[in-house]
Amino acid sequence: MRVLLTGGAGYIGSHTATELLNAGHDVTVVDNLANGSRVAVRRAGRLANGVVAFHEDDLLDTRGIERTFEAGPFDAVVHFAGLKAVGESVAEPLRYYRINLTSTMNLVETMLAQGVRHLVFSSSATVYGDPERVPIDETCAVHDASNPYGRTKLFLERILEDVVRAHPDMNVARLRYFNPAGAHPSGDIGEDPSGIPNNLLPYVTQVAVGRREILTVNGDDYPTPDGTCIRDYLHVTDLARGHVAALEKLATHPGLVTYNLGTGRGQSVYEVIRAYERATGVEIPFRVGPRRAGDIPTSYTDPSLAEAELGWRAEKTIEDICRYAHEWQTRNPTGYPED
Ligand code: NAD
Ligand code: WQD
Repeated sequence: MRVLLTGGAGYIGSHTATELLNAGHDVTVVDNLANGSRVAVRRAGRLANGVVAFHEDDLLDTRGIERTFEAGPFDAVVHFAGLKAVGESVAEPLRYYRINLTSTMNLVETMLAQGVRHLVFSSSATVYGDPERVPIDETCAVHDASNPYGRTKLFLERILEDVVRAHPDMNVARLRYFNPAGAHPSGDIGEDPSGIPNNLLPYVTQVAVGRREILTVNGDDYPTPDGTCIRDYLHVTDLARGHVAALEKLATHPGLVTYNLGTGRGQSVYEVIRAYERATGVEIPFRVGPRRAGDIPTSYTDPSLAEAELGWRAEKTIEDICRYAHEWQTRNPTGYPED
């Protein structure tokens, strides 16, 4: 298939570009480089001995989207583009609603006008809020998220339901990612957050290479075995393969499908620290700080629906995640170079 990746110069998009090329698809990226890298796009293509076409454009600009679609035709779109920092969304809700909602609506309108009928949408386990049960399966209630970022995902899931209802020939897969982490085994592409990392793994890697002095554990008094929060860390290459499987599912399955993508295993913060030290031999100094607002004690998925319907399951372990994240950070101590 000829696939357009919006936000494909970012963390998950670049890894998905590589896996799509490996699976024999043709890949084009559109990205405004607000948080992405051209170097990531180039390296992603090289890792698959292929080339990823790149268009620098903004999904808020309908003319820009039309320009990108003129470079088609495309059979499908994987929509990664958007803002994703929870804390930033609390401080700047209107910016998050405007960018995440408007860019998606602009994209879908162009897809409908151009007759592109397959869409894979980046959703998030955050739509489950504080889950009604764990492990979390797709029948669990989705709750009003605890932050504007999470609400954009919830609203967009609903918007896509309405689009499929109004346009029965539209095929949409909503993928609810748990905690993507790690980097391509080559160490050539990985997670390159701007500023101070919000997420655990990139913060740990920056401590490991000396960019940060010490890790603060956000609370160890949660109702979990060791008191720290438990999450389902999913290697980004496994996640990327999940997108390949979802695209191939859409080609034969009309309508709307929704899948949790995770390992089905949970690790606490302390277990991640120990896994990182085992995998790399590097000690991770830490101190215990206060709880972080909005954190829930435990979240991990029941992966059986994606296994049954996509034939997909995560293969890499938390040690693999730590090993490859460390390789990426060691080889790219300050992230991607300027292009
Ligand atoms: P990322 O920030 O690395 O990638 C997003 C990309 O979108 C960036 O390259 C950015 O430049 C681009 N972009 C942003 N706004 C744009 C616009 N208006 N027009 C064109 N390009 C634009 O983020 P990521 O971690 O790769 O996440 C990709 C998607 O997956 C996001 O939608 C995110 O909400 C979702 N998601 C991420 C996680 C996670 O933990 N990383 C978890 C669940 C869901
Ligand atoms: C995991 C655990 C932290 C950093 C977030 C978003 C979610 C999704 C994935 C986009 C928590 C603890 C972290 C640190 C720590 N993103 N931690 N010290 O919060 O599960 O999910 O990223 O969709 O929407 O909420 O992941 O990696 O931020 O935190 O102790 O320096 O690690 O408190 O318990 P989270 P995370």
